[in-house]
Amino acid sequence: MCGIAGYIGLRQASPLLLEALRRLEYRGYDSVGMAIQHDNCVEIRKGPGKVAAVDSECHFAEMPGTLGISHTRWSTHGGPSQRNAHPFFDASKRFAVVHNGIIENYLELKELLRRDGVVFSSDTDSEVIVHLTSQNFKGDLLEAVRSVVKHLQGAYAFCVINNVDREIIVARNGSPLVIGIGQGENFIGSDVSAFVEHTKKVMYLDDFSLARITKDNVQVSDFAGNPLPLQVKTIDWDLEQAQKQGYKHFMLKEIFEQPQVAQDSLKQAVSITVRPARIIIVACGTASYAGYVGKYLIEKLADVPVINEIASEFRYQEPPLSKDDLVVAISQSGETADTLAAVRLAKKHGVKTLGLINVVDSTIAREVDQVIYTRAGPEIGVASTKAFMSQLVTLYKVAYSLADRTFDPQQLVSLITKVLEMQPQVKEIAQKYYHHPHFLYIGRNRNFPLALEGALKLKEISYIHAEAYAAGELKHGPIALVSDEMPTVALCPQDQVYAKTISNIEEIKARQGRIISIATEGDERIKSVSDDVLYVPKVDDILYPFMLVVPLQLLAYHIADLKGCDIDKPRNLAKSVTVE
Ligand code: AGP
Ligand code: GLU
Repeated sequence: MCGIAGYIGLRQASPLLLEALRRLEYRGYDSVGMAIQHDNCVEIRKGPGKVAAVDSECHFAEMPGTLGISHTRWSTHGGPSQRNAHPFFDASKRFAVVHNGIIENYLELKELLRRDGVVFSSDTDSEVIVHLTSQNFKGDLLEAVRSVVKHLQGAYAFCVINNVDREIIVARNGSPLVIGIGQGENFIGSDVSAFVEHTKKVMYLDDFSLARITKDNVQVSDFAGNPLPLQVKTIDWDLEQAQKQGYKHFMLKEIFEQPQVAQDSLKQAVSITVRPARIIIVACGTASYAGYVGKYLIEKLADVPVINEIASEFRYQEPPLSKDDLVVAISQSGETADTLAAVRLAKKHGVKTLGLINVVDSTIAREVDQVIYTRAGPEIGVASTKAFMSQLVTLYKVAYSLADRTFDPQQLVSLITKVLEMQPQVKEIAQKYYHHPHFLYIGRNRNFPLALEGALKLKEISYIHAEAYAAGELKHGPIALVSDEMPTVALCPQDQVYAKTISNIEEIKARQGRIISIATEGDERIKSVSDDVLYVPKVDDILYPFMLVVPLQLLAYHIADLKGCDIDKPRNLAKSVTVE
């Protein structure tokens, strides 16, 4: 995910695009660039870093011209660098492109283009677009791009300009792109925050469509060349709402991005080349809870022993490590000091390290022996949600890969979409329980790490005390806490530990505890032992973690919202804990 912005009209483009990039920076920024058409040339300025830093080097606003495209990058292929920053030129420097998304067949396209003598200037997937455009150009830029998209596989939204035609060509399939309709000028953005202060008249481009945009006209067509109607809407969002695409908080937006994230993570290639004798998972917070789910999976499917270590503890231990071990570091930011220290300790012992990381080329990504990117896109909310989902998907892929099997659950994305539909019921339960000062969360087996994650979500955004226990552990002391003042969230899907979990719920019920169960659709028995039930779809046992985490996220979110908490920036917290 990144930020694309374009402008064509009567005003100087570069200052408008620079402001647009500042507005889009929340979408991910590791490099920035701009291409402006002027005097039958295209000028490109770009570099690694945030918008302000790159602008201090490139002085974007000095670029003359009334037509341009620009980009803030969230790297997926090729680390953040000058050469990998967008826009990209073709060899003749007549064409320029900016791209959001992933061109999945870019390697084979690169090979074909190289055979035609194309010399690539970057390591990215995106660059193939501009060379294909140049190859297919026969005088009409729109028709050239229409030929190009026939070669592309994957998700993309891209803009192409050339040095002479007074137009911007855009194409969309899977990544967002919206056109702002002005008076004698038109705007392009990855979302409306790019231009919302200039026009509220917008046109959302659909998948499989192209548009030719001039200063006075927008023509939309499908990939086959059939004209499509121009559906212009008027929005009433302000800038902040635009960045959240209408959601009240980034966290809620990111909860609802999870189907797309699961789809993107599923597409990531995962191959563990050497089967380790033992796996040690090192991580912090939410990432560590994903790692705990990974333990159950890897041991069950691949029969490889797994030890979960809290990174801040591991780094000060004298762990008995062997060269046949594999240390797996899980981190959204790739900058968490404790996890980084754990990786360095492992390397000092000569142990191979694998990183499951979200931010491309982050410190941990660069220091591990092998990195698998989790592809959640930028996560703005401090409380991790979609990153956790992407970590789960990636860990499942790792577990299946170690078992020489493929994890490719056809229905997973639609099932996650279905679970999100339970938001109204979750809001009702939040309304009923948000005043409680304490919560218990319980689960067994793979559901226990989910209980830990659910409790953490509630703690960190609503400041309510919440403890998670392995359900079987309650009778060894914590059940003394049970009262009607301390509701219990019980993770009790109809999986292989259902009967045992029901017994634990009944132990709580017998002591006047109040139960919010998260259960399998159609389970009538759970009602008799619960005060409230949230139902998730019936799935294979092994897939319940994907179903259970969504109501836990939504419950924490709506309780915190009812309490008026600062959900995206909770007190005392930081998005990336780069200190000890
Ligand atoms: C999760 O909601 C918290 N923000 C926190 O526990 C986080 O998961 C932890 O700090 C690890 O961060 P990382 O994934 O970037 O390493
Ligand atoms: N895949 C492209 C790259 O890595 C685009 C990434 C983005 O959407 O910012 O450059």
